[in-house]
Amino acid sequence: MTASGALLTVNDLKVHFNLKALPIRAVDGVSFDLARGETLGIVGESGCGKTTTGMSIVNLVQATGGDIIFDGVDLTALQSLPRSKQLELRRRIQVVFQDPYSSLNPRKTLTQTLDKPLQIHGFTAPERKDRIAYLLEKVGLSPRHADRYPHEFSGGQRQRIGIARALSVGPELIICDEAVSALDVSIQAQIINLLLDLQEEFNLSYLFISHDLAVVEHVADRIAVMYLGKIVEIATYQALFSDPKHPYTQALLSAIPVPDPRSRGSRIVLQGDVSSPLNAPSGCPFHTRCVRKSAVCQSVAPSLTAIAEGHSVSCHNL
Ligand SMILES: Nc1ncnc2c1ncn2[C@@H]1O[C@H](COP(=O)(O)OP(=O)(O)O)[C@@H](O)[C@H]1O
Ligand SMILES: [Mg+2]
Repeated sequence: MTASGALLTVNDLKVHFNLKALPIRAVDGVSFDLARGETLGIVGESGCGKTTTGMSIVNLVQATGGDIIFDGVDLTALQSLPRSKQLELRRRIQVVFQDPYSSLNPRKTLTQTLDKPLQIHGFTAPERKDRIAYLLEKVGLSPRHADRYPHEFSGGQRQRIGIARALSVGPELIICDEAVSALDVSIQAQIINLLLDLQEEFNLSYLFISHDLAVVEHVADRIAVMYLGKIVEIATYQALFSDPKHPYTQALLSAIPVPDPRSRGSRIVLQGDVSSPLNAPSGCPFHTRCVRKSAVCQSVAPSLTAIAEGHSVSCHNL
């Protein structure tokens, strides 16, 4: 896939925060693209910068550097665009969060919750009424749920509401940030199936963020593995699972339970905790936990390098 054919191209994205004058490189040079109808999974341990990457795309955090090109428009300069153009771009990219409960107003019924974004985006009252009925059906909720409040729904139903709200204004890209992480495994499967059905029907692109590679396995066409603000490996789902190259990817994969544990080799237990971006190691950020490290890894940061078509890895010792 060429970058020019992509719906979204993220190029050398950096998001740095300051915590009491200490720099935090939450996202530190991330690049990827995403085609229409495609799902890119982003995985990695907590704190590696997945959410910050997603939130910078919807302008909820400001990028420090790099470009975020959505259908030809640089979203890092969104604020400088006319308001109508900003509104249109915001409509086209939506987010489904881990816990819709915290983003649902407890005093608003389901109908009121879904009505608001439609109002903002200029739907008339009759259009909104029809659209809400249509959305409920699309996400597997019943019309009798329309006047219920968030606390009256189960976790899985609340996630369906979160999806209906994202879907309501007709987006092209949905960022699913740990969208199924809080749910039981059986409910996870239902929500994932719903997301896959909606993707097919509406040709949606997903950025599917999860700390859990086992979840991403079921949805992603390609997967980017992040470690301390950087992508350390990116490949198609098939290549990543059958031929993982980075020692960190190999460790994540080995931790996924499989029916026959022998079929995936023995579990690699990573030593030490994920370092914090507050005191990121010099050289390769992973070298403090790496079984394969050599002298160069402590001083020189490897760059993400293509080893095959569509498969890039950042490691000195492949
Ligand atoms: N607003 C913020 N101010 C300071 N540090 C932040 C802020 N948001 C995130 N961080 C830090 O950036 C790093 C990446 O966070 P995040 O993107 O939430 O990771 P993930 O989603 O992969 O768990 C973490 O170290 C986190 O503490
Ligand atoms: Mg997160």
